[in-house]
Amino acid sequence: MAPTKSTVFSGIQPTGELHLGNYIGAIRQWVASQDDCFNILCVVDLHAITIHQDPAQLRDACRKTLGLLLASGLDAGKCLLYIQSHVTAHSELAWILNCVTPVGWLTRMTQFKDKSQTQESVSTGLLDYPVLQAADILLFDTDLVPVGEDQRAHIELTRDIAGRFNQLYGETFRLPKPVIPTVGARIMGLDDPTNKMSKSILKDTPHHGIGLLDAPEKIIKTCKRAVTDSGSEIIFSDAPEKAGVRNLLSIYQALTAKTEEEVLADFASARGYGDLKVGVGEAIVDHLRPLQERYREIAADTGYLDSVLHRSAEKARALCETRLAAVKEAMGFLAERS
Ligand code: TRP
Repeated sequence: MAPTKSTVFSGIQPTGELHLGNYIGAIRQWVASQDDCFNILCVVDLHAITIHQDPAQLRDACRKTLGLLLASGLDAGKCLLYIQSHVTAHSELAWILNCVTPVGWLTRMTQFKDKSQTQESVSTGLLDYPVLQAADILLFDTDLVPVGEDQRAHIELTRDIAGRFNQLYGETFRLPKPVIPTVGARIMGLDDPTNKMSKSILKDTPHHGIGLLDAPEKIIKTCKRAVTDSGSEIIFSDAPEKAGVRNLLSIYQALTAKTEEEVLADFASARGYGDLKVGVGEAIVDHLRPLQERYREIAADTGYLDSVLHRSAEKARALCETRLAAVKEAMGFLAERS
C-alpha cells in the first residue's frame, strides 16, 4: 500500500502583495511538493480583519493572492487552495476552542504584544488571533505547519489547545508539528539585509523588495538600489558586512538552481557590484515573466477564478465536516436529526 501523504497546512494573509521572499521561501516549495504532500493553502481573510482593512482592498487582495498562487504553478486539483471565510467551520471551531483556552495563554503571546502596541485600539480579535489559527490547523488532519520563526509560538499554542481539548473530551485532534526553515533559506530585504523581506515593510518602502507583479524596469531599479558593502568582492560569505551581497547571490542561486561555484563563475567577469545587481535583476525578470503572463490570463478570466474558489470551498467544507461533528459530539452538543 502506498504510504499516506502528509497533510501540510499553510495560512496566507491577504494583505499587501506577495513578494520574491514569499515565492522563494514558501510558494516554490508548495509547488515542488504538491505530488508528495497534501498541501492545504488557506487565504486567511478572517485573520486579516483583526486589523482594520479597507473592504475593496481586502476583496482585491484575496483574488490577487489566489491568482498569484495559481500562476506560480499550484494545481487546485492536487492541493486545497481556498478562502478561509468561505468555510464557516473555521469561525465555529475557533469559538469552541476559545472556551478551552485560558486568556493568559493569549495575553503572553509576543506577536499580540507587538501588534497591539502599534494599534490605537486593540480588537478582541487581535487577542484571539492564535485561537483562530489553531482552528485552521486542527480542522484538518494536519501533520506539518511550515512557518517562520515568528509563528513558532502560535504552533506551540495550537498543540497546547489541542492537548487540553483531548484531555477534557477525549482524543479528538491530531497534534501538528511546526517546520521552521533554516536561516540560509530566507530572503532578506534589499534595503536592509538584516531584516527578512516582508509584505508590511514593502507596502511603505517600495525598494525593500520585489513584488511578484513588479514591471521589469522596476525590478532592475530596485536591484540597483540594493544595499551592499563598501568592498567589491563577490563571494558567499557569512560575514555581517557581506549580508547584502550574499542575499543577492542567494536570490540568483535560488532562481537559476545553480551551485555556488556556477553562480560565482557567472559573475567572475563582473566589474563591481553594479554588474552583480543588474545580473540578479535580469534573472528575476526572466523568472517572473512566465508567472506574470499566467497571472494576467487568470486575472482576465474572472469566471475561472470564481469556479476554482467555489469548488475548493466545497472540497474544504467536506473535508472538515467530520472533524467538526466529532468535536461537537465530544462536547455534548445535541445533534440535529431529521
Ligand atoms: N499567522 C500566520 C501569519 O501571519 C497566518 C496563518 C493563519 C497561518 N492561519 C494559519 C499560518 C495556519 C499557518 C497555519 O503568517
